[in-house]
Order: sequence, then C-alpha cells, then structure tokens
Amino acid sequence: MKRAKISIIGAGNVGATTAHWCAAAELGDIVLLDIPQTGDMPAGKALDLMEAAPIMKYDTKITGTTDYADTANSDVVVITAGIPRKPGMSRDDLLATNAKIVGSVAEEVAKSSPNAFIIVVSNPLDAMVQRALQVTQFPPQRVMGQAGVLDTARFKAFLAMELNVSVEDVQAMLLGGHGDTMVPLASCASVGGIPVSQLIPPQRLEEIIQRTRDGGAEIVKLLKTGSAYYAPAAATAQMVEAIVRDKKRVVPVAAYCEKEYGVGGYYVGVPVVLGANGVEKILELEMTETERAAFQKSVDAVKELVASMAKRV
Ligand code: NAI
Ligand code: 2OP
Repeated sequence: MKRAKISIIGAGNVGATTAHWCAAAELGDIVLLDIPQTGDMPAGKALDLMEAAPIMKYDTKITGTTDYADTANSDVVVITAGIPRKPGMSRDDLLATNAKIVGSVAEEVAKSSPNAFIIVVSNPLDAMVQRALQVTQFPPQRVMGQAGVLDTARFKAFLAMELNVSVEDVQAMLLGGHGDTMVPLASCASVGGIPVSQLIPPQRLEEIIQRTRDGGAEIVKLLKTGSAYYAPAAATAQMVEAIVRDKKRVVPVAAYCEKEYGVGGYYVGVPVVLGANGVEKILELEMTETERAAFQKSVDAVKELVASMAKRV
C-alpha cells in the first residue's frame, strides 16, 4: 500500500514538532520545507528525526528542503509558515505579513500538489485559511484550519486537572474562531458520559472556560520567546491522521461554512467529520441562547479579520 506523503511548510517550532508527532505515529513520509534563508536547517531537523527512528521505532522517511519540487504530489500539506507577533507590532501588521507568506506558500502548494488536502496552522488562523482557499481555489473540503482540536484539548486537559481524572474520559466540543471569542461549549462537555455541569459548579466551570480562551496567551506568558508548539503540533498530527487513515473523526475544525450555521462563506471552528475526503460533513449543533450569541460574536470577529486582510493584501 502506498504511503501517504505529508509536507510541512515552515520548519519552525510547530512545523518540526508536527513532523515529530506524524513520524512517531508512522502517518507517512514527511517533507519539511522552509525558506532558502534558513539554509540547511530543515535538512538538519529531518536528519535528526531520522536518527531518532531506531530508538522510537518508526519506519518513516523524513527529508528537509527549501525546494517545493521535493514536496511534489503531497497527499497532505500542513502550512505553519509565518511570523509570530513581535513587540510593537499590531494584529493588523501580523495579519498583513502572514497573509502574504501564506498566500505565497499556497500558490506554490497549488502548483506542486494540486490534489493535496491543506491544513493551515499559521495565525491569525481563520483569516489565513481563507487566504489559502482564495489562492489555491481548491474545493473547500480540502482546505481547512487547525485550531479547535488544540482548543478542545486545552479545555479537556483543564477539566481533567480539575477533577483529577484521566484525560481519556473527558469529552468536549468548541465552536467559533481561534481567538478571544472562541466558544467552548459547556453543554457538550462530559466526563465518563456525565455532563460536567453535574461535577463542577457553574462559576468554577466558567473560570475553566475562560482559561481555555486564554490558553494560547498563558503559554506565551510562560515561554516569553514564542508561542505553544507541542499541543498545537499534536492537534495538527491528529488531523493529518484522520485524513490519511480515513478515521472519520468528529472534531472541531476551521471549516468553510456557507449555509451552515448561517455563516455565509467564512472559515470558523465547527464540528466536522474528518476523513479521507477531508471535511466530509459539517455537523450543526443545537446551542443555548447564550452559546448562540457568543458564536455570532465570534463569527463577526472572523468577518472583521477577513475584511481587514482584504485591505492589506
Ligand atoms: P516559528 O517562528 O518557530 O516557525 C515559523 C517558520 O516559518 C520559520 O522557520 C520561518 O522561517 C518559516 N517561514 C516564514 N516564511 C516562510 C515561507 N514563506 N515559506 C516557508 N516557511 C516560512 O513559529 P511557530 O511557533 O512554528 O508558529 C508558526 C505559526 O503557527 C505562527 O503563525 C503561529 O502563530 C501559529 N500557531 C497557530 C496555532 C493554531 O492553533 N492555529 C498554534 C500555535 C502556533
Ligand atoms: C495558540 O493558541 C498561538 O495560536 C497559538 O497557542
């Protein structure tokens, strides 16, 4: 059986760690690509991962490159290329810079891997995935963004910590954009099938939800030199796995919503069935009135971001 070819664009923290998780799970052969200015860095990281294989026991070929020819005909392409926000830089500046980077990457990907599934990770996520769609003109089922798997993982981790129970028994779902307005759904969170509302008092649950919304900022504050990468990369690898192994996972993904949820042609985090055909189905949930209002606020924030991007590219 043919092994999947997975290319990861941007061999920085998230990119290299995604390669690590994908290799460890033997999801396919991996190509790690960065810009020519990084010289042999992608090749160095790829070789280092190959040298870990006999210890970790994965039979996966990992190569590093600065040439898109080496990514040709990838089955899945993960885009982590971009810059993090620096002091003195506005959100709009980041948006403009990363929109240009993601736009140029998407152009190369469309040429070299016309049949690939694209998972965008670069921030601001919901706008960057829209940019990748605009540039590639791929069917929307093949272009998606990673945010919700990470954000729900954070929610589940905090719930497990709170109750001192196995993370394996915690279920959660989340909607909306990858930002301050994301909507972790208390109504969908459960532990061993028991709704969390029966296990955690409302005020404490609200604090955990707020910590989830601030999850990215909490790590930035601790690391000081960058943003999270272990959990974001693990989340991305789970999406790659769902596609290459046709898992039909039900996970929150930044998916292109037209009529769904009345969004009208934007990417927002929604529960989807993720499998060999990419975003195979968007699942429409019933929400409480409060959750619906919060979701609408999040959709409006995504629309503003996309409008702002349109003025900057
Ligand atoms: P990083 O700075 O460690 O790595 C970014 C890499 O992209 C660098 O190696 C850089 O050389 C490369 N790059 C820049 N322009 C490029 C281009 N045109 N083509 C190919 N590669 C290019 O940053 P890190 O920590 O890996 O984060 C990457 C992106 O992912 C950031 O935008 C970050 O905000 C975002 N992120 C998103 C998350 C999510 O859940 N959606 C979670 C964590 C990070
Ligand atoms: C995070 O949530 C920075 O988007 C990144 O950690």
